[in-house]
Amino acid sequence: MATRGQFGSRLGFILAAAGSAVGLGNIWGFPTQAASNGGAAFLLVYLVLAFALAYPILMAELILGRHAHGNSVVALTRIAESSSTKAIGALTGLAGILVASSILSFYSLVSGWMLGFTASYPLEALGFTKEAAWLTDFSLSRNVILMTLFSAMTVGIVMGGVQEGIERWSRRLMPTLIVTLILLVGYVFSLDGAAEGLKVYLIPDISKIWSADLILSALGSAFFSLSLGVGTMLIYGSYISDEEYLPSIGAQVALIDVGIAVLAGFLILPAMYVAAARGVEIFDASGRLLSEDTLIFTVLPELFATLGVIGLIVATAFFFLMSVAALTSSISMLEVPVAFLTERFSWSRARAATTAGICIALLSGVIALNFESLFGFVIAASTRYGQPMLGLMLCIYTGWIWRRDSLLGELKKNDPDVASGLFWKIWPWYLRLVCPLVIGTILWRSLA
Ligand code: PHE
Repeated sequence: MATRGQFGSRLGFILAAAGSAVGLGNIWGFPTQAASNGGAAFLLVYLVLAFALAYPILMAELILGRHAHGNSVVALTRIAESSSTKAIGALTGLAGILVASSILSFYSLVSGWMLGFTASYPLEALGFTKEAAWLTDFSLSRNVILMTLFSAMTVGIVMGGVQEGIERWSRRLMPTLIVTLILLVGYVFSLDGAAEGLKVYLIPDISKIWSADLILSALGSAFFSLSLGVGTMLIYGSYISDEEYLPSIGAQVALIDVGIAVLAGFLILPAMYVAAARGVEIFDASGRLLSEDTLIFTVLPELFATLGVIGLIVATAFFFLMSVAALTSSISMLEVPVAFLTERFSWSRARAATTAGICIALLSGVIALNFESLFGFVIAASTRYGQPMLGLMLCIYTGWIWRRDSLLGELKKNDPDVASGLFWKIWPWYLRLVCPLVIGTILWRSLA
């Protein structure tokens, strides 16, 4: 077996893990869900769930991964002692690989659209109207070609390995993303109508907070946004050196992720109301917000169109931002099957990345061919149900199956006094009892 990769520095890891976490989920999913679920009420529930539920599970993944220095199947079988818990652990790991691949299959379709929109603005300005229209109009050929292009970029980076591929590109792309996002927020704030959007985003309608649908959406959003359940963070954790103190690294990743989602809300909600102030329709006949995908692919372009030359630059910057965010996430999804294939079957990275990449792209192709019936279905199955269920399994494995002394030993590697610290006093029982109970209840209510 080839020697395992490892992140070269703490910052490199944080940027890569934050790069995985920050994606379409933060810049598109979170703000549009907030917009259609009562703005500030959603923001509030999301923040509570992100820190109270998602962070503890993120820690479970990082610690499990670092302990095993291996993929999720290895990690979950290693901490189990009986043959049945080993078998269930292996199945959970495999299910994670499957769900990660399904997420990537719809994710690369959407990311392909982002690439298309990015290129369409400069092309349009140069007079290539027909080409620009092809890039933005919904068609099978556009969906498949752009998805293939995006998948090829993902495979290319993952083939480079942990330090030369994932870490290097995350170091380049994450700062680009943050700067672009801040510039865009600053610009949108200067436009008429932005204040209206800010109000919706920041003043909660308390009556909406207890809606079961809102809570389930916020939970799914928090899980998706932190890349949880499917073994992405586990595998990134397995590339962290034993010297690092995990609880604070995990907290930094969660803070960056939540911070960027919140920041993106400061862009999208005001932008919608700026659009409304300019006569663009953002509510349907019954006064409800237009559906989520419509927001980004129709409302924003209509807004950009009213801004003249500046609109052209802002639009290109916006879709470029989306593409960058998507790429640092997609590489982390592809890494899940790739790590498994290289470790389990001793495949070379190049072989594993191309094989997994091609299989997933074929799946995307199947979705593209049956868009109406499959697209929404795959998203709901993998993110609304798959991720929380796998998260639940991770809580059970880390909280109940893993022997306490072994878990403590892992944390002691870089902090001998960890047992007397706050993290060890709270996290283990919290993960054992509170997390499974809350996730279980929310899932049960949503299925019932
Ligand atoms: N966290 C990513 C986003 O917000 C999506 C993701 C999910 C990435 C699962 C990896 C694994 O877009």
